[in-house]
Amino acid sequence: MLTLDRLSVSIYGQPVVNEVSLTINRGECIGLVGESGCGKTMTALAVMGLLPGGATARGSIRLEERELLGLGANAVSAIRGRDIGMVFQEPLTALNPVQTVGAQVAEMYRIHERAGARAAQRRAIEALAEVQLSDPSRRARAYPHELSGGMRQRAMLAMALACRPKVLIADEPTTALDVTVQAQILDLVRRLAEDRNMAILFITHNLAVISDLADKVLVMYAGRPVETAPTRALFESPEHPYSAALLATVPRLGHRRTRLPALPALEESGPLSDGCAFARRCQYSEPQCHVAVPPLTNARNGRRIACFNPLNRTEGQA
Ligand SMILES: Nc1ncnc2c1ncn2[C@@H]1O[C@H](COP(=O)(O)OP(=O)(O)O)[C@@H](O)[C@H]1O
Ligand SMILES: [Mg+2]
Repeated sequence: MLTLDRLSVSIYGQPVVNEVSLTINRGECIGLVGESGCGKTMTALAVMGLLPGGATARGSIRLEERELLGLGANAVSAIRGRDIGMVFQEPLTALNPVQTVGAQVAEMYRIHERAGARAAQRRAIEALAEVQLSDPSRRARAYPHELSGGMRQRAMLAMALACRPKVLIADEPTTALDVTVQAQILDLVRRLAEDRNMAILFITHNLAVISDLADKVLVMYAGRPVETAPTRALFESPEHPYSAALLATVPRLGHRRTRLPALPALEESGPLSDGCAFARRCQYSEPQCHVAVPPLTNARNGRRIACFNPLNRTEGQA
């Protein structure tokens, strides 16, 4: 459904995303995980054709058979919202503050399906009901600031899903919500994904969030994919030391919670091309890790990993 092939993004010549490749099939959810600043949002914005000024993308982004990189602005905006829906961390910045949420959802039908005003309004209320917003006809008349964070995220989902897109990109959609509401939204996404057989790219800095949702996980560090694996395999035996460190921050029954060593800011860690960007934080690093970037290579069971000295490769190691 959606395929990224060595997608790279630079901002004013600075690489921020390096050769991200992934395929998401219909009905499948891929989790894109990594610390703040590792390039997750830039990856999503490249797919949506919404990169900021100064940013350029290389590689390939295909929706079914169609190449999206290099399409003109009109073609991209027709795809956005219709074929690919997106939700963000903070719906307040994405929603229009001076328009009711009903009108904003209705606009999706007017733009992409040329629906008349009344039909669009009626379908907007249906869409709000589908994301389980209580009392949808009343909420449709509300302005974004009149809704709670959880309700706003539901409204944002209704907008993203209005035209039944084939692909949903969710960029930290639950990060701003409290834990209970977060669980409700995750549950909703899971249910909608099953009902509609969408391809989902779910972005989060928190591995725990996608443990039940994602089929596969792609872990990014400093703009590069460092490990991709089926979710269960990654949780059971991470092979990249960074994946292991991320996983160690996820509280689990019977495991003591540990913390990542403090992150040196990316600017301070030097150019990305001088070896593995994680090397200076990595307790398993070897001399070669500081001179060459380890290539992403295939490992067992559908896993890919970019590391010269991975964990769990031989008995007794790690
Ligand atoms: N508008 C921008 N101009 C210049 N650099 C940016 C801009 N937005 C993000 N960046 C840089 O791009 C990198 C990736 O950012 P981003 O994709 O937002 O990370 P994430 O979503 O993983 O937190 C960061 O190093 C950040 O500093
Ligand atoms: Mg982000």
